[in-house]
Amino acid sequence: MPKRVFSAMRPTGKLHLGHLLGAIKNWVSLQNTHECVFSIANWHALMGEYENSTGLQGYGIEMALDWIACGIDPQKSILYLQSDVSEHLELQMFLSCLTPLGWLERNPTYKEQLREITTRDLQTYAFLGYPVLQAADILLYKADAVPIGEDQLPHLELCREIARRFNSIYKKEIFPDCKAIMTETPRLLGLDNRKMSKSYDNAINLSDDAALVEKKVVSMITDPQRARKTDPGHPEDCNVYSYYKVFASSQTQEVYHWCTKALKGCVDCKRNLAGHINKELDPIREKRNEIAQDKGKIENILKEGASKAQCLAQNTMKEVRQAVWG
Ligand code: TRP
Ligand code: SF4
Repeated sequence: MPKRVFSAMRPTGKLHLGHLLGAIKNWVSLQNTHECVFSIANWHALMGEYENSTGLQGYGIEMALDWIACGIDPQKSILYLQSDVSEHLELQMFLSCLTPLGWLERNPTYKEQLREITTRDLQTYAFLGYPVLQAADILLYKADAVPIGEDQLPHLELCREIARRFNSIYKKEIFPDCKAIMTETPRLLGLDNRKMSKSYDNAINLSDDAALVEKKVVSMITDPQRARKTDPGHPEDCNVYSYYKVFASSQTQEVYHWCTKALKGCVDCKRNLAGHINKELDPIREKRNEIAQDKGKIENILKEGASKAQCLAQNTMKEVRQAVWG
């Protein structure tokens, strides 16, 4: 039996290059070696966006489109909307009963988000319990491995502690230990050199058309010491160069040469990069357009995914109910 992988993403907006390189590419290759379950975590999204919830279901569908366009294959993997499988909430409740408040209050991600996100009131009961629902997601499918970013490591650690506590209280090894699968791809910064994020409006989205990608790339900040075209540049201090390493690794030497010898200006260098990015995004855009024609199809894929996920979830819940209620 191949090992089972579980991962999820919150549908809070359009997916961008950071998601593609940081997560989805990895998911796509895991499909060939593992049994994969991918969830659109709309309950988790609601915890942050409860005052602004109308767009969320639409974002969920858009995200499924992006995933499939990038190569997540509904024939190979299960993909579904978290809220379509109500067992997540039942397991969350079982786990909530035995999760010490201190574990949640000490969670560094929680503390950081309360500090940094000031536009929304996150001092809620559900938001404190965010990692408990995340643990329920993972444990419901008894996942062996979870591909996640570094920022999610404290949540995975909590999940493992909750699983151990459950097994020890109810004296049954119901939940296996799960490990993180970290992505190796270098993190891409946004157009303005800050972390690529929807909230900074500095991302290249997977659904951007070729002209918009070019416009965005041409607006990228370059080596600040290269004021004129005749000044030699410093590729290692230039975000554009780090994009070359990811999207056109065979051309990096050439770029290094034209930059340090001032043979090419930054606008030309960026236009050329845009071409490479567009080459990568073209097939994704094409596939996205193709499946977007038929909204009914994507809804069916999600419904089918939910029923497959629910079968697995029901098996776990039988054991859990038996262990707890007797
Ligand atoms: N918290 C994750 C994020 O913001 C999304 C998520 C929800 C998740 N449930 C999960 C990730 C389970 C991995 C496993 O990215
Ligand atoms: Fe950056 Fe290219 Fe300009 Fe060099 S030529 S500073 S790599 S954009």
